[in-house]
Amino acid sequence: MARDRLGTSRPKVSVIGAGMVGGAVAQYLALRDYADIVLVGIVEGLPQGKALDLAETAPVLSYDCQITGGNGYEETAASDVVVITSGIARKPGMSRDDLLRINMGIVRSVTEQAVQHSPDAILIVVSNPLDAMCHVAFAAADFPRERVIGMAGVLDSARFRTFIAEATDVSVEDISAMVLGGHGDTMVPISRYSTVAGVPITQILEPEQVKALEERTANGGAEIVALLKTGSAYQAPGASVVEMIDSILLDKRRVLPCSVYLQGEYGIDGLFVGVPVKLGREGVRQIIELSLTAEESAALKMSAASVQDLVDAMARLGAESAAGA
Ligand SMILES: NC(=O)c1ccc[n+]([C@@H]2O[C@H](COP(=O)([O-])OP(=O)(O)OC[C@H]3O[C@@H](n4cnc5c(N)ncnc54)[C@H](O)[C@@H]3O)[C@@H](O)[C@H]2O)c1
Repeated sequence: MARDRLGTSRPKVSVIGAGMVGGAVAQYLALRDYADIVLVGIVEGLPQGKALDLAETAPVLSYDCQITGGNGYEETAASDVVVITSGIARKPGMSRDDLLRINMGIVRSVTEQAVQHSPDAILIVVSNPLDAMCHVAFAAADFPRERVIGMAGVLDSARFRTFIAEATDVSVEDISAMVLGGHGDTMVPISRYSTVAGVPITQILEPEQVKALEERTANGGAEIVALLKTGSAYQAPGASVVEMIDSILLDKRRVLPCSVYLQGEYGIDGLFVGVPVKLGREGVRQIIELSLTAEESAALKMSAASVQDLVDAMARLGAESAAGA
């Protein structure tokens, strides 16, 4: 618990990376008004400026939480939750390996520094490639698996819910959706478990409509990038992280799809893959094993294989840089 300037105590959330997603996490979390927020970034003035802007929004939108920004980790000490959003986006001409190498280095370095100051925190990893970066953070933090959680499934499911709402002309509130697997184009939207007021969409929509919604969901990130031209989605990702923080810090025990380290669940061992988990004050309280059809299970295994490819590539890149050092 952080003790703030007012002498009240609230849980503390540190957001590492003061870019678009980091800023959105801080903004949506501030509106919830139950946690103090520390924004950390490498650009001099950026986290400080974003934090001050949000602090100056407080009188208008009526929140009392403290929001501070800085370039170091001292202020993050004893955080209850640390959100890792640092990283670079793939630039034209950059290979997958280049991006992987750079973001591995960034995520490893920021995680090591963050956990040094907050050894009991729960880590939420956001940086891409998501499942691979969860592996990096997990190794760098040396935390139990219950306290290293990747954000992807909440966002992917939110996108799926949006598209289902549009297709059925029903409020998003009455729609729930489940997307499993790695965060990428091999993700696995599970339509049998995606419902409108409890009724699976497979019973409401034609098979080709369902397929179109699944495909749009799997391409959800790319659709936004194509529209924005520069940068990628940050509002829905930021809000999705806050939904996870709510469940953790308010001990709500929501069942949300998150990337977690599987040890045999779903027949997958030693990999971060998106599956439904129950999130509470200690982090992951339970990994929920849905019963899947042979086809769904095969799609999940294929998605896991693409995460394994990235993990193998990281091992190779790590070995190469060690040999070069
Ligand atoms: N998991 C998801 O569903 C999801 C969704 C959206 C974005 N993302 C990922 O989240 C990350 C952040 O996205 P964004 O839009 O906020 O990007 P951004 O470029 O706006 O912000 C990235 C931040 O990382 C920081 N950074 C860059 N190099 C660094 C270094 N060497 N050390 C420390 N920090 C460094 C930058 O200062 C910047 O503040 C990206 O990797 C993006 O792909 C993931």
